[in-house]
Amino acid sequence: MTILLNNDGFWHEQWLAAMAKHMPDRKTIEYGDGISPAEIEYALVWKHPHGDLKNYPNLKAVFSLGSGVDHLDRDNGLPDVPIFRLIDPAMADDMALYTLYWTIHFQRQFGLYAQQQKKSYWHRYPTPLAPDFNVMVLGLGAIGSHIARVLVKNGFNVSGWSRSPKDIAGINAVSGKDSLMQILETTDVLVCCLPHNKSTHHYLGHEILSGLKKGGHVINVSRGAVINDEDLLGLIDRGHIAGAALDVFGTEPLPKNSPYWQHPNVYVTPHMSGATNPDTAVQIIAKELVDFEKSIMPPYPYRREA
Ligand code: GLV
Repeated sequence: MTILLNNDGFWHEQWLAAMAKHMPDRKTIEYGDGISPAEIEYALVWKHPHGDLKNYPNLKAVFSLGSGVDHLDRDNGLPDVPIFRLIDPAMADDMALYTLYWTIHFQRQFGLYAQQQKKSYWHRYPTPLAPDFNVMVLGLGAIGSHIARVLVKNGFNVSGWSRSPKDIAGINAVSGKDSLMQILETTDVLVCCLPHNKSTHHYLGHEILSGLKKGGHVINVSRGAVINDEDLLGLIDRGHIAGAALDVFGTEPLPKNSPYWQHPNVYVTPHMSGATNPDTAVQIIAKELVDFEKSIMPPYPYRREA
């Protein structure tokens, strides 16, 4: 039984080391020349060439190497085998800490103090207490709901929005556009955790973003194309939105000429809020693979989004 590894060439050494450590009895080969397709029974992929997974006649299951599955949604040539999403608590923790960092940054106006320091200027502003600082998490899937819980644990007043109603302790969880717009009026930080698909493309455009409380902030940890960049920049430039921390972009790497790079109120990070960790990820995949061979199906099945 052979496992195909195709993480778009990224960190293959670390992935192979993790496979050798946690799945020592399985043979893994890297995507590339010299594969005999009939040998492949499982595929671990991230941004694989579309249609490629149909080339393996004995393929039994596919494992995504990231939590987002938009790279699979875009492939119209997927084989008819179970597909496993990667839901790694270590990654969700990482993303929650990233979000907490920027939430505190905005709550305590650290950007302003950094500018003041450059001018040797001493001036203190009132800081809202965490329970008076309102955070709205948009998208309450495995990652969004974890982020919301970590924010609650740290004292913030957290609301959450999802397409279908969710019940999460300590979080004012709502669904429906009217509820979203109503809560946005008092939201200090809007955290985007929505997956990118046809129905969320540019979902955060002028209508929703202008509904955010004046002086509010945006954090995006999901996919860049959920935000309409022009609308966000327009609202920041007109002073309605005070700032944004963006980890993801419609085009990555973010092009050199993007206005985000030089914008004084925008913080850019290179899609690092929750990178897949090969060591923790392979432990999860190894367990799911063994379960699958005993006909136990994954807790988070992949469903192609509209
Ligand atoms: C990264 O963006 C992922 O989806 O895992």
